[in-house]
Amino acid sequence: MKIKGLVLSGGKGTRLRPITYTGAKQLVPIANKPILFYVLENIVNLGIKDVGIIIAPETGDAVKQAVGDGTRWGVDVTYILQPEPAGLAHAVKIAKPFLQEDPFLMYLGDNLIGADLRRFYERFITETPDAQILLKPVEDPSRFGVAEVDEKGRVKRLIEKPKVPPSNLALVGIYMFSPKIHEAIAEIKPSWRGELEITDAIQKLLDWNCLVLSDILEEWWLDTGKKDDLLKANTIVLDEWVKREVKGEVINSRISGRVVLPETAKVINSQIRGPAVIGKHVIIENAFIGPFTSIGHGSKIVNSSLEHCVLLDGVEVRNIERLEDALIGKHSRVIKNNSLPKALKLMIGDDSVVEIP
Ligand code: DAU
Repeated sequence: MKIKGLVLSGGKGTRLRPITYTGAKQLVPIANKPILFYVLENIVNLGIKDVGIIIAPETGDAVKQAVGDGTRWGVDVTYILQPEPAGLAHAVKIAKPFLQEDPFLMYLGDNLIGADLRRFYERFITETPDAQILLKPVEDPSRFGVAEVDEKGRVKRLIEKPKVPPSNLALVGIYMFSPKIHEAIAEIKPSWRGELEITDAIQKLLDWNCLVLSDILEEWWLDTGKKDDLLKANTIVLDEWVKREVKGEVINSRISGRVVLPETAKVINSQIRGPAVIGKHVIIENAFIGPFTSIGHGSKIVNSSLEHCVLLDGVEVRNIERLEDALIGKHSRVIKNNSLPKALKLMIGDDSVVEIP
């Protein structure tokens, strides 16, 4: 059976504003690697060779530039332009010429999971359902698509972002479909939020008594569309997947634990305590970099102390006594001229300057 991959990397990205005013949310780095790359790796590991990527007019070029033609992962990438974010089912609709009558794995480009999909994928191949979904118990199900299941765990009903959720089982943004889904999509109407919902299309399959299977994801799952989830994702990925690799120049400094320091990075009179990932061409001088911090390429940290922070590329932090739980956009500068004995908690968009007198 030939199975294709469909990655959704369009949409507006408004939930992560101001960080994604200028960029695609799927390209926001976790441990200095775009979320979308983790998604692609998970697909490629299943042996899928044909991957369609849905892109939006505003951010499509950036996605194309980052991913290229897929050679890096040994796959064929086809870009599919979605003129507006009219919903997940709409994305499938416009991908039909690419998907044709082949079954496919659909993966939302901002979903990060702590598992591979081997078991899920093989179950689809063996049991040939028309749809297969992945569920995860969450504390705030109203933010997601929610499944109502019977005693045996069979899906009875699916509802998108219900005010009164029938269970705590959220739909993870990873689905498998037979070509029957196209018939279901042809029958649905836009929801209250004006989108063609994939949840409604799967509900159609249930109404038609088609086989819809579900699995529970035991490992962690993060929808990185929010600041706190993003910092959490960074923490988990640094904790679980980062290995020590110190290649950069280290002058009069101490680097302890699992730290990635590339050849072009330079550390002077400083201390770095892992897990932490430092980008290329980063300069760290008279600074302390605490655990769970990712520093984007070309950033500069001087006379400052950072912990549990995500700094995108080209950020400058200077004279900040303590910066924690911060997410700082590209090419922003956080600079203090005098001392102020307080910890700073910030979310700063791209191209900003924050000066503390
Ligand atoms: O993350 C899981 C949730 O994803 C599910 O629980 C929901 O059932 C599902 O509807 C979806 O909800 P969100 O509201 O979080 O979806 P969002 O609009 O953030 O879009 C998810 C991804 O798909 C994101 O990377 C952008 C992309 N997208 C979205 C839309 C609406 C597109 O490529 N095209 C679109 O039209």
